[in-house]
Amino acid sequence: MKKHPSPQHRWIWLATIAAVLIYGGSAAAAELSVCIDNSSPTASMDANLARAVAAQQGSTLRVHAFNGSGGDEGFALSKFNQLAENRCSLVLGFPIDADAHAVPPGLLASTPYGHTGFVLVTPSGSRAETLAELPLHSDVAVTYQTTPNLYFASHPNVEADVHRSDAGSLHALEKHAVSAAMLWQPTIVRYLASRHEASRFSYHELREPHAQFNLVALYDSTNAPAARAFEQSIDALAHSGQLARLLAPYAQAGAALPVRRGTAMLRHAPRGASSGGHCGGSAGKPRKPAAVPALYTVVQADNGKQKFLANCAQCHGPTLEGRAGPALKGPNFASAQSKFHVSDIFSILTHNMPATDPGSLAHDDYVEIMAFLLQQNGYPAGSKTLTFEGARRSKVKLVYRGD
Ligand code: HEC
Repeated sequence: MKKHPSPQHRWIWLATIAAVLIYGGSAAAAELSVCIDNSSPTASMDANLARAVAAQQGSTLRVHAFNGSGGDEGFALSKFNQLAENRCSLVLGFPIDADAHAVPPGLLASTPYGHTGFVLVTPSGSRAETLAELPLHSDVAVTYQTTPNLYFASHPNVEADVHRSDAGSLHALEKHAVSAAMLWQPTIVRYLASRHEASRFSYHELREPHAQFNLVALYDSTNAPAARAFEQSIDALAHSGQLARLLAPYAQAGAALPVRRGTAMLRHAPRGASSGGHCGGSAGKPRKPAAVPALYTVVQADNGKQKFLANCAQCHGPTLEGRAGPALKGPNFASAQSKFHVSDIFSILTHNMPATDPGSLAHDDYVEIMAFLLQQNGYPAGSKTLTFEGARRSKVKLVYRGD
């Protein structure tokens, strides 16, 4: 028998809608409380944006400033959870790798309001706008443990001049000791502004994997209404053209254009997706490349799995689906366009990972974890044992081979 909803039901339904509207409305009208990282070169941009959003909403602004540099230890991602739970409804200016989309576990991210990233900085006379356009044997300054270190492997025309800090890279550029530098856009912008030297250098977005970052506001699920109100204000500011002016020259309005795409996004692998070498989801079949050599043994991959779970899974997810760190399997990790070789990824593992304690594992541990990553990306096991030297030198292309 079909029942009509009783009038009471309808009333409850309407009351629920009203409550949602009032709550959302009051959250927006009363106060906008944001956390801003004062150590970030985008701090002034974030503050201007917060003021404009508050004005747009007609709310009072409350800013909680924090120091996100975290000293030598780095700033633990869990501190973002503490901020979002106790200090403010929105943590502004959080950069998310446009090719990875990882948000700190337990938090949500607003729709991106802008994007920025690593840029190629050259003296103003230079005609090169990309790494590929730099003359053969050009030295390019890069800061230790930053993403652009990855790009040398796919650009044999340039050579790395690695510095311990951005200040070092900037110094090399200033002294003309290098032809170019790869730096975080807000860093070079702030540097040029502080020296009134904007005309001496120009910079261009690096169209390389992991170079583009989307700027989002992080929030705890209890602050979803504040996040929705924020997104609406951002829309309004984007329409009036104000957003682009607020973000320049540190960032551009809107989300970054993808670099590594080509296949459908496979980011949030379905919960419980099998870890047995077959990845859930199959839209956009990648081309199957010709047969690849068997680089490792099954035993190595099995050991590697245990070591991965113990040392890496908390950031990359137990099925390599990505969390605080990017996904480590699938077409968004190892796409043909990204031109990774086994040696490039192995170099990231051994130099930068685990992110909390880089280089801390034994050689064998890294090798076995590499074997596990190869297995998970569809590479066959064989009778030959992968060695540290072998992985370090391997020019075998790393392209996801699942389907
Ligand atoms: C504390 C968190 C954390 C831990 C632990 C960690 N990683 Fe990462 N990892 C990251 C983050 C964040 C990035 C992105 C860094 C970047 O792009 O600059 C990353 C990047 C990577 C990349 C490069 C991915 C790409 O697409 O460029 C690889 C490979 C990697 N990690 C492997 C590992 C392995 C293997 C372990 C364990 C030995 C590990 N990571 C442990 C956070 C972590």
